[in-house]
Formats: sequence, structure tokens, C-alpha cells
Amino acid sequence: MYRVVTPQTAAELDAYYQLRWELLRKPFNLPIGSERDEYDSVAIHRMMLAPDGTPIAVGRLFIGGDEAQIRFMALRPECRGQGLGTLMVDDLVQLAAAEKVKRLVMNAREEAVEFYRKCGFLEVGGGPVTFGRIPHRQMIRSLAPLQTIQYRPEWCQDLTTRWARGVPISEKMGMDISHYDGQTFHLKANLAANINVHGAMFAGSIYSQCVLAGWGLIWLQLREEGLLGEPVLAEGNITYHHPVDEAPEARAAREGMPAVLQPLKAGETARFSLKIRLYSGSKLAAEFLGQYVVEPVKRASH
Ligand SMILES: CC(C)(COP(=O)(O)OP(=O)(O)OC[C@H]1O[C@@H](n2cnc3c(N)ncnc32)[C@H](O)[C@@H]1OP(=O)(O)O)[C@@H](O)C(=O)NCCC(=O)NCCS
Repeated sequence: MYRVVTPQTAAELDAYYQLRWELLRKPFNLPIGSERDEYDSVAIHRMMLAPDGTPIAVGRLFIGGDEAQIRFMALRPECRGQGLGTLMVDDLVQLAAAEKVKRLVMNAREEAVEFYRKCGFLEVGGGPVTFGRIPHRQMIRSLAPLQTIQYRPEWCQDLTTRWARGVPISEKMGMDISHYDGQTFHLKANLAANINVHGAMFAGSIYSQCVLAGWGLIWLQLREEGLLGEPVLAEGNITYHHPVDEAPEARAAREGMPAVLQPLKAGETARFSLKIRLYSGSKLAAEFLGQYVVEPVKRASH
């Protein structure tokens, strides 16, 4: 039987790091030592043993608050293609879930993206090129769907994760997806975190909330259409009607969006405008018209 264990003795740890080097560094002619990093002393290490006790796979989980990162995952070449890689990922996922981690993140080598996609990870953007020659893609997997959302709660959690990593100010502003039903998307912000000297919401925050609401709706709609792309704002015009002095909520509707995203299917850029309304309680406080551009994701070929 295959078993996944935590290497503990000095001999087990030696075997673990040796395998890590052999599988992940030696193929690139990188020296012994390059298989380690500064998080090793605080991370969880896992190793798969074949029925005869031979180490055949390694994987590492580093937990930082709500988020955990999988790194150094690899399996001996002769053992691949039998579902053992999936078992390693399941093991790391269970460890993370037991620690109440909300999301898993990782940088996957481009040739491993499909494997991680099959393990439930979502590709969310470009990652680092390590050692100047190993390109990666950023991938995430949410472990706790957004409790407040009925429709596509995992996707909304993925979007929150995407923002937390790619648009960190969204967390500072207290952005919170309050509604998504496939047609309309509502995004709340924390008024106290965005207040100005007059006791109302800062105009720049109102603008940002609108931009993100449009971005979020497009991101979800891309997923509904099975498309990959990163929305970018090319132009934005906002009209402020009233001060925002209670519960700011931006609302965007998908009207006509599936059609405007179609160019992406042919590998072409999609350009379109989207209106977002921002409410202060029940009062319409601002209207934003954004010109968004979505470029098709191009992967390096192998
Ligand atoms: C990536 C790796 C861990 C996958 O392990 P594995 O045991 O071969 O994967 P599994 O057998 O569990 O495969 C699960 C599914 O993913 C698919 N898959 C696995 N590797 C794949 C790849 N490189 N490309 C496309 N699909 C892949 C399998 O076909 C299988 O699909 P199925 O469920 O439809 O049959 C292993 O190939 C490996 O160690 N690669 C080298 C190191 C590496 O790239 N590590 C990742 C660093 S980020």
C-alpha cells in the first residue's frame, strides 16, 4: 500500500530533501541546496512511500493565516500517471482544511497546470519564472465557499482570493461580494475604511469600488463562458450624485455580456463598456461607465 508520511528522523528528512532535489532541481543542473528555502523550518513536509518503503513523492505545505501554499510537489517519473499525484494533493488539501485554511495557492509549472486544474485548482494569472527558465502560472483553490452567496459560492470565493492576491487594496477597503445570481453582481465596501474628512465615502474609493464591481462581474462571466482572460480598465467616467454616508454597494448587470466576450473565443481582444451604479443605502449615489478590455490568455507553447 502507498502511504503518505511526515518525514521526522534525520534519515527520513535526508531522503525527503534528496528526492526533492533529484526530481525538481537536478533536471535543471541546479546544485544541492537549491531545493530548500527559508520556509522549510516552519512548513509541513509530506512524503509518499511505495509498499516497500521507498520514497516516491514529495510535497510541502506552508500555512500563513487563511492561506496555504503548496510547493515542491513531485513524483518519481516511473510512478506518474496512476493517480498518485492526485493522492498527494488530496493529502495536502486535507491537512490545510484541518487547519481551517480558506484557500490554497500555488505557482504551478506550466506543464503541470492541467494536472492541478484536474485537482480543482483555478488558473488566475502569470507566476514567476524561477531560475530564469522555469515559467509558472498562479493557481488557487478555495476550501471555504462564501457562505452568504447561493449561486456559485466557490467562484465568488475564488474571486475574493484573486483580489486578495492581485488587488490587495480590495481587502483594506473591506470589499465583500454581497450578491451574485449569474445575471447581477453586487459588491459592498466598508464605509468606515473609506471615510473622508466630511464623514462620507472618499470619492476615490467610490471609483475603485465601481471599477472592482465591473471587474468582478466580467471575471465571473468569463468563467460562465469557459473563457480565460484578465479584464483591464481602459477608460472610466464617473458622476457623483450624492454623498455616500451609509452601506456602499456597487451593482453591475451582465446585459449583453456573453456576446461582447465572444471575440475571446477566436483569440481576439474583447472591448466593451459596462455601467455600474453605486448606492448609499437605497439612494443612487454614483454612476460609473467603464471601458473594459479583456485580452485572451496566451500560454507559452512547449
Ligand atoms: C505533476 C505530477 C505531480 C502529476 O502526478 P501524476 O501522479 O502523474 O498525476 P495523476 O496520475 O494523479 O493525474 C491526475 C490527472 O492529471 C492528468 N495529468 C497529470 N500530469 C499531467 C500533465 N503534465 N499534463 C496534463 N495532464 C496531466 C492525468 O492525465 C490525470 O487525468 P485524468 O484524471 O483525466 O486521468 C507529476 O507529473 C510530476 O511529478 N511532475 C514533475 C514535477 C512537477 O512538475 N511538479 C509540479 C511543480 S509545480
